[in-house]
Amino acid sequence: MSLHIRTYREQDRDAVIALWERCALTRPWNDPSADIDLCVRSREATLMVGYREDDLIASVMVGHDGHRGWIYYLAVEPERQGHGHGREMMAEAELWLASRNVGKVQLMVRIGNADAEAFYGALGYEAQDVTVFGKWLNDPNAP
Ligand SMILES: CC(C)(COP(=O)(O)OP(=O)(O)OC[C@H]1O[C@@H](n2cnc3c(N)ncnc32)[C@H](O)[C@@H]1OP(=O)(O)O)[C@@H](O)C(=O)NCCC(=O)NCCS
Repeated sequence: MSLHIRTYREQDRDAVIALWERCALTRPWNDPSADIDLCVRSREATLMVGYREDDLIASVMVGHDGHRGWIYYLAVEPERQGHGHGREMMAEAELWLASRNVGKVQLMVRIGNADAEAFYGALGYEAQDVTVFGKWLNDPNAP
């Protein structure tokens, strides 16, 4: 049975953050609530949630920078994984980008997350020949 997928609403906040925690997507240096606020304020990003009946069991954050699309916070409730819901959420995110004429989508997978690599591979994603560089702008003591 497929998910009911819709745009995030404020009432979803606690359930979304709990889902991200169960899926080990949160990190001490990322405030998930602040990430939601930033996404909700942006016209170039959206957060989608997937429901089965009354249960929020999936999420994906998608946005673009005017050049490429980016995916964050893709999550499916651990005991509901393996039933095609991750694929459904990604299809919605890709549709959102395609409808804005974004020609390419990218995402970052943490080193060692072989399951996520296998998942994205099954969806036709390929490792790109680039190294991602980063720099913290707000907290000099951040990891
Ligand atoms: C990654 C995640 C979203 C996948 O969701 P899911 O609902 O289990 O995935 P699906 O059932 O839609 O799988 C889609 C395809 O990927 C394949 N796949 C998924 N996980 C896989 C794995 N660990 N190894 C091999 N293939 C895998 C499936 O076999 C399926 O292939 P098919 O459609 O050709 O049969 C889910 O495992 C998750 O929430 N993980 C924790 C959070 C996370 O790591 N997010 C990604 C951060 S980069």
